[in-house]
Amino acid sequence: MPETVGDRLVRGDKGKGLDALGKLFGAIVGGFYRLPGTRVIKDLLHGTALLRHPLHPAVTDAVVGGYTVVAALDLVYLFQRDATLSKATDIALLVSLLFALVAVLSGYTDWNDTYGNERRLGIFHGTLMSLTTIGYVVSLALRVGGGPREPAIYLALVLWVIVAATAHLGGEMVFGFGTGVNRHAWSAIPSKWQKIAIEAATLQDRKPVRVELKNGFTVMVVRVDTEIAAIGAVCTHAGGPLDEGELVGRDRRDIKCPWHASVFSVRTGRALHGPATMDEPRFETRVGPDGMLEVRSLSPGH
Ligand code: FES
Repeated sequence: MPETVGDRLVRGDKGKGLDALGKLFGAIVGGFYRLPGTRVIKDLLHGTALLRHPLHPAVTDAVVGGYTVVAALDLVYLFQRDATLSKATDIALLVSLLFALVAVLSGYTDWNDTYGNERRLGIFHGTLMSLTTIGYVVSLALRVGGGPREPAIYLALVLWVIVAATAHLGGEMVFGFGTGVNRHAWSAIPSKWQKIAIEAATLQDRKPVRVELKNGFTVMVVRVDTEIAAIGAVCTHAGGPLDEGELVGRDRRDIKCPWHASVFSVRTGRALHGPATMDEPRFETRVGPDGMLEVRSLSPGH
């Protein structure tokens, strides 16, 4: 259990109220993604599609940076009353809000696959960020409404402080709880051929098996027709056991994680559907002279 500010905020009875909020948002987000045709949106918002890296932390940088530019320009305006700054500030705020919309949607999409205190902290962070986004929309409306700019500026400055504190909690999601961190980030993956305790002839078609290499790294081995494929057995998203998943997709050549339904190609290890955004380490396989299987890492950098 991480000893972080965020965890202390939501731990035990203190965070119980957040469970009800989490249930409500979980029903909304989960319900939406159960609708047919929404998987492509989900993959885009996780970052599995196109970016191939978590999208949420990438866009939140733009949001916090944009709001900071707005705060700096607002402060200059308060001291100099330079009307030429107003237009630039309004545009900076509008662009920041467009990024904020993506950040909110990607954040709730990632959050929906979390548990326990991590989930509580996530909904706390997400709710505060959603409210600040609404506050900034009000600030923008006041600015372009033609009235005095001061109320909009003071509102935005207060919101900037809340955003800074809330962004810190978002950082704790990653650095305290490891949300979205590749579960193989610290794995040592043997790069030399290694015999494993599986007789090739005993492998049943499309029945994955988990084996442990000498250094403890676990590999999922599966026969697909005449080919024997091997990738990491631990899901890169949050550590789910891929060998307990089901083979899916065209010709059933992809493995679906039993925890949050990420899908990986068993031949390439590529993350095909999120929430996982990182690929699985993949292995070359061969049958030794004694009929036993041998594997060797094919993943670059390991
Ligand atoms: S652990 Fe979340 S999808 Fe595998």
